Amino acid sequence: DSSEAGEYISQVIKKRINDYFKNRKDGDRPFVIGLPTGSSPLPIYKRLIEMNKNKEISFQDVVTFNMDEYVGLEFNHEFSYHYFMWENFFNHIDIKKENVNILNGNSNSHEKECELYEEKIKSYGGIDLFLGGMGVDGHIAFNEPGSSLSSRTRIKTLTRDTIIVNSRFFKNINQVPTQALTVGVGTIMDAREIILIVTGHSKAMALYKTIEEGVNHMWTASAIQMHKKSMIVCDEDATAEL
Ligand code: GLP
Repeated sequence: DSSEAGEYISQVIKKRINDYFKNRKDGDRPFVIGLPTGSSPLPIYKRLIEMNKNKEISFQDVVTFNMDEYVGLEFNHEFSYHYFMWENFFNHIDIKKENVNILNGNSNSHEKECELYEEKIKSYGGIDLFLGGMGVDGHIAFNEPGSSLSSRTRIKTLTRDTIIVNSRFFKNINQVPTQALTVGVGTIMDAREIILIVTGHSKAMALYKTIEEGVNHMWTASAIQMHKKSMIVCDEDATAEL
């Protein structure tokens, strides 16, 4: 089920971070992790918070890069991804504020913001582990169907389907932003490891398209078939079409 999927991924993250710091020498780069929003990763965040409280894992020298952010919502807007991440994760762990990176959907130049984000990821030596979810249409981050599989961080217009699905978090559908800044499929593919959490029956078709058909830019998560170290962790409901 979804909480077991979350538990499994939390254990993998704990192992990766702890192994990294066991072998790390003074002056080495920090561990860099890419993070998603959405309801699927919530059990992972909950579990990592517990592990942090029990001193099984520390985020003191971990740097995070979030996948995406809506265009036009203030940081403290209750449905912004900034708010989501601080509320559900960062406020409850020992991470340093300056080590948290989330795209600014209110910047004066979205193009510059996205360029700087890519440069910042590079300046840390890339992403060690990119954790992601999946949209019901197989999107990864906000790389909507039709996105280039070599895309980098940029602004994307959301599809009608995504707006409808994500409207469950808003008071009404007209409040859902129509655009977002998102890391590209190429940005995610550059990570040393990718783990996707896919839970619930609504993801069954997307999971099928992602792993049982060919790599296809209409189901952007399918790009991970080409990655040398990637894993999907799902619950039984999500496997209905396999
Ligand atoms: C949004 C996010 C994605 C996320 C997807 C699924 O579109 N941009 O990163 O994977 O929602 O969310 P949920 O886990 O709530 O189904």
